[in-house]
Amino acid sequence: MKKILSLVLALALIICCFAGCGAKKDTLTVYTEAGFAPYEFVYNNEIVGVDIEIVKAVAEKLGKELVVKDVKFDTIVGAVKSGKADIGAAGITINDERKEEVAFSIPYSSTEQYVIVKADNNTIVNLDNLKGIKIGIQNGTTSDFMIDGLIKDNTLAGSTIVPYDAPALAAAALGSKVEAVVTDKLTAQIIVDGSNGAYKTFKLVKADGSDAAEVEEYGICVSKENTELLKTINEVLQGLLDDGSVAKWEKEFNDKAATVTE
Ligand code: ARG
Repeated sequence: MKKILSLVLALALIICCFAGCGAKKDTLTVYTEAGFAPYEFVYNNEIVGVDIEIVKAVAEKLGKELVVKDVKFDTIVGAVKSGKADIGAAGITINDERKEEVAFSIPYSSTEQYVIVKADNNTIVNLDNLKGIKIGIQNGTTSDFMIDGLIKDNTLAGSTIVPYDAPALAAAALGSKVEAVVTDKLTAQIIVDGSNGAYKTFKLVKADGSDAAEVEEYGICVSKENTELLKTINEVLQGLLDDGSVAKWEKEFNDKAATVTE
């Protein structure tokens, strides 16, 4: 009796192990930061958005189960590099610094830096006006790097960066801890739309009206060793760009995000 019991237990253990290993192999782990509508945000307790639809399509193509993790934005590239995450999908701007760490897909969206101020603020209308004030940004983003560069080269002498975990949290500090918030275009517009007239936004321009920042492009990142996965991502992305899905999702999730109240 005892022998049979231990045999059954041993078998159960083997089966469990196999199931466990199998489950691990068949998942596609995506790291994101879900405070960035319309690309990723929480809706009805679920992380949704353009990036999520894209990685869903990638997981489907690979026949893998999708696992989406909401983490701090400035940890995503490192987690992808170390292999902790298979994919980073978070409206991540493709830039040279990040390209040293990870490999990027073809671009799927573009953006520019926008400024958010309180609706009754009439003094901040261009880049020069950000001089000497406290500026809120999402930590580790291109907004952060751009403002940091402008402070260091003295364009924004006397300004200070106040880092937040999400652009909406920075905006919530407008008028108290910060005077302006800098973030990507669509995210800025959604925050302003959801503020019921409390905030307004504009593209970051120089005093002469010319562009203050470069156009940025979003890419999905994988570790540099993961060339097969990158190939699949690019194939899927190209299809979704060609058939208009990405543009359709940008509109759809923009509208959806507008209904989320903070
Ligand atoms: N595009 C900017 C960057 O790459 C901001 C991205 C923030 N994304 C997010 N999911 N919070 O730095």
